[in-house]
Amino acid sequence: MPRPIQALIHHDALAHNLARAKALAPDARVWAVVKADAYGHGIERVFEPLRAADGFALLDLAEAQRLRALDWRGPILLLEGVFEARDLELCSRLGLWHAVHCEQQIDWLAAHKTHTPHRVFLKLNSGMNRLGFGATAYRSAWARLNALPQVDEISLMTHFSDADGPRGIAHQVAAFELATRDLPGERSLSNSAATLRHPALASDWVRAGILSYGCAPDFPEHDIAHWDLMPAMTLRSKLIATQPLQPGDSVGYGSRYIAEQAMRIGVVACGYADGYPRHAGSGTPVLVDGVRCATVGRVSMDMLAVDLSPVPAAQIGSEVTLWGRSASYERDGGVLPIDEVAQAAGTIGYELMCAVAPRVAVSVG
Ligand SMILES: Cc1ncc(COP(=O)(O)O)c(C=O)c1O
Repeated sequence: MPRPIQALIHHDALAHNLARAKALAPDARVWAVVKADAYGHGIERVFEPLRAADGFALLDLAEAQRLRALDWRGPILLLEGVFEARDLELCSRLGLWHAVHCEQQIDWLAAHKTHTPHRVFLKLNSGMNRLGFGATAYRSAWARLNALPQVDEISLMTHFSDADGPRGIAHQVAAFELATRDLPGERSLSNSAATLRHPALASDWVRAGILSYGCAPDFPEHDIAHWDLMPAMTLRSKLIATQPLQPGDSVGYGSRYIAEQAMRIGVVACGYADGYPRHAGSGTPVLVDGVRCATVGRVSMDMLAVDLSPVPAAQIGSEVTLWGRSASYERDGGVLPIDEVAQAAGTIGYELMCAVAPRVAVSVG
């Protein structure tokens, strides 16, 4: 028997979340962002429900090749553009669209031999200071690209640093409008947080990343129920032992949890070697047989412990949901949002879903 831990990827949730993005941006086209192997879900596993998107956005050429191998003939955008000159050959061969964020990428394009001119997304650094041209350089980069026979259509893009928080997007939208005034071409601005929180922003292409996977970009201000999103991933395991504790008994490495009263704990086949965050301290929520419980003690490599007080009937073999759909989901729709687990571990849902370890069997369910 393999260890009972498994990850499930839910097609109905992915389709629902993509439909939400489309409904929020009815006049835009939607990139399904599938970088980092579809945020840990697996490109091949998310492809069917997300193929209703207008295109796929990612970073790795190898991932773009996997999409073409799935017979996806629509747009694919390389969000960071090419990493070296010879990547342009693959762009030509696979018909990839690519971001252009620095002069060197334009130099490579100018030297590239191709019969098929490329569609490029010229990236403005509107304040995030990660990738992109500053305002003045942006306009000269546009003119340079526009003069190249290797370039077909030029679209204009930027990325928001604070769409999920109180600073918002106004300052970056103003910088974008100033830098791109009078320039022709389609615009791509919104990520998930902007799509959800600033739906009035005009963006010809929205880039729906985390929302597609059923995670709230602005948790805890808003949760997935607020945004009507469904978790696309469940991490599920089972109890492999139970232990009775007396007052004063401790749990796990470092004795970080001491029982104050007699209680029963369950030991779950899930640890940090499965991708569960070690920083999730006592009190992190889990569902046992669909009932909300809390972890106790340190997460170890292969196991973690749960206070079974809320679910006295639990025993070896009881279903444990680390995040996602509960064992009783079909009956009661119960879910444990990944955002809650992430918050308990001082991180974000993005990191947890990307970190599920290769030893965890994944299936579509
Ligand atoms: C350029 C760009 N666009 C879109 C996204 C998608 O962001 P999110 O997952 O927050 O929707 C990312 C993610 O980091 C990105 O780097």
